[in-house]
Parts: sequence; C-alpha cells; structure tokens
Amino acid sequence: MIFLICLAVLGTVLAVPLTPVVEEPSTRDLGAYVLPTETFPTFYDIRLFFDPSNEASFSGDVSIRIASFIETNRIVLHAMELAVDNIEVYPELDQTTNLYQNHSLATDDTHLLTIDTSEALQPLRPYTLKINFVGQYAANMFGVYVSKYEENNVTQ
Ligand SMILES: *[C@@H]1O[C@H](CO)[C@@H](O)[C@H](O)[C@H]1NC(C)=O
Repeated sequence: MIFLICLAVLGTVLAVPLTPVVEEPSTRDLGAYVLPTETFPTFYDIRLFFDPSNEASFSGDVSIRIASFIETNRIVLHAMELAVDNIEVYPELDQTTNLYQNHSLATDDTHLLTIDTSEALQPLRPYTLKINFVGQYAANMFGVYVSKYEENNVTQ
C-alpha cells in the first residue's frame, strides 16, 4: 500500500522537466537591481518519507545542485504545497560551510521560496541546496516539486 504511494509520487517527480524554464521575472518582492538570468539546476535527489500512522502529512528532502551565471545572494524557487523545515546551502567543494542565512515562503499563489545566503554565490560554481519539508496529503500532493528558480543580483 505505502509502496504504491511512493511509486506514484516518484513517477510524478520524475515527470517534472529538469531543464530550467525561462520565465518572466516577477516584479513582486524584487528590488531595483533585478538581473533575472537563466540558471541551471543540474541534479535533483528527492526522498519522501511516509509514516503509515500519519495520514495527514509526509516528510521529505530534496538536494539540488545549482549554479548561477552571476554573483548573487538570493535563490528563488517554486515550492508548491510544502512547509519548509530546514534549508542548507553548501559549496559543492566544502560541504561543511552552510551558507544559508534566511528564507521566506510566499503565502500567495506564487509559491515562491526565496532563500538568502550569507555569502554571495560565485558564478559558475556548483552549490548544493538541501531542503527538508513537510507536505500535506491532498488532491494536489503531487505538487511536491522544485522545477525552476530565478536569481537576482542583490550584491550590486
Ligand atoms: C533575510 O533577512 C534580511 C534582514 O532582516 C531581510 O532583509 C531579507 O528580506 C530576508 N530574506 C528573506 C529571503 O526573507
């Protein structure tokens, strides 16, 4: 029973396009120095944990390998239907230095998760973004996905 649920969710996750989608930059929340740019998440590793005794929610974590074309302190991504528990951002060559500073999750229907880092991410260097989350079982639970993100240069 539980195993079948896992397969359904993972199938949906895998169906999400892995290439970044260039989208119109949202002017909401974005400052005057927005430099929307194409970015490239290159690797996703998603784990979902189902507790048969908890019918309301499930937990999971995702690791995304990201790189930016520009120097930036901010990562923005879509996080549908998730309550974020914990976020960590590591340079790929230094998995002990967590650059995470703070984050905010939009309460409107943009579902934008904005993450600020304590140090600027350097262009074309790989970083690992790790997010622990709790998801609700609902008709749209299959919205558990992280499909794309924008970045804006807040260091200028
Ligand atoms: C992080 O904290 C700073 C300073 O309080 C604030 O200006 C910024 O908006 C916060 N970032 C996010 C993503 O909430």
